[in-house]
Amino acid sequence: MARPPVRAATFDAAPNIALVKYWGMRDPALGLPYNSSLSVTLDRLRSRTTVRFDPTLDADTVELNGAAAADEQRRPVVELLDRIRSAAGRSEAASVVSDNNFPTASGLASSASGFAALAAAATAAAGLRLSGRALSQLARFGSGSASRSIFGGFVEWRAGRRADGADCYARPLLPPDHWPELVDLVVLVEDAPVKAVRSADAMQATVRTSPDFARRVAEVPRHLAGIRRALTDRDPARLFPLVMEECDSFRRVCETTVPPLDYLTSGTRALLATVREINRTAGRPIAGYTHDAGAHLHIFTLRRHAAAIRRRVASVPGVRATLLVGPGPGVRPVVARGPRVTRPGGRSARGGSRSRADPRAR
Ligand code: DP6
Repeated sequence: MARPPVRAATFDAAPNIALVKYWGMRDPALGLPYNSSLSVTLDRLRSRTTVRFDPTLDADTVELNGAAAADEQRRPVVELLDRIRSAAGRSEAASVVSDNNFPTASGLASSASGFAALAAAATAAAGLRLSGRALSQLARFGSGSASRSIFGGFVEWRAGRRADGADCYARPLLPPDHWPELVDLVVLVEDAPVKAVRSADAMQATVRTSPDFARRVAEVPRHLAGIRRALTDRDPARLFPLVMEECDSFRRVCETTVPPLDYLTSGTRALLATVREINRTAGRPIAGYTHDAGAHLHIFTLRRHAAAIRRRVASVPGVRATLLVGPGPGVRPVVARGPRVTRPGGRSARGGSRSRADPRAR
């Protein structure tokens, strides 16, 4: 009997930074969050993942940044592949090869981009054609925030209300070029601790033990509506204070978790104070900070203020490096180019690969 053919696909996806945070699951088995969240998918940074279903393999192999994945990294990848195999009615093992164009050791979250690229590549290789919405529901099982990296620009992940999760999915709110002036100055701090507890476990500790969690869930809809409106209206004076208020609310429930979740270094705390001082000096909000479950800080500002703010934060003790990014595209296939060809007129083009916008992710 003829063997089923090897089928492979490669996709790129970018990390996202949440302006309204996801923190706490109403159903951990299905990965359903308590509240909706809103993020910006970033440009310049990407995970590139190739999935190859191969009937000659005995078991799934997972390679991350050139090395075999450790057991705890491999497990959620295999679980996602199992889901996809059962949806596609396939049984072959797969090889997964993934790398980031940013150093994983930099502490920038790579699970959102990694699982978004994995969900897209594995479904394509398995022959499934999923909508962006269905892809976001699948990526959620790898990492909650991965559901938002399916789409580019400004993205909302709706918590939904249904017990089966059918109304829980990410959707694009505003395209990447909606507000070209808005930039994210990513500030990498020194000695950022490696996460001791996975976010999925840490957030459930918050749900169980933080006396402030219920209040946070009650105030998120106001943050969400305000930030959505400020983005739509391109209104920095409303956006930056709300982004900081939302981040402070997230940090408060982490700090009041038992035992406390403290993700920041003294450098990050100095940076929070610096951003508040920058706004005080300017006499109006010209920047807004936010951070995830980690020590690096994202400072949103307008392009015209970025150079001065960058100089200012570079002198804060504990700052290692800064990176200026903007909103970027969603998940997209990487198409292999052929060997060097000579075009009419004598110009030649080199082989290689490039990614193009995925029509499903629009
Ligand atoms: C604080 O479960 O998506 O970044 O898989 O560990 O990256 P990891 O986390 P995930 O939780 C993300 C929590 C957050 C807020 C957010 O991105 O909404």
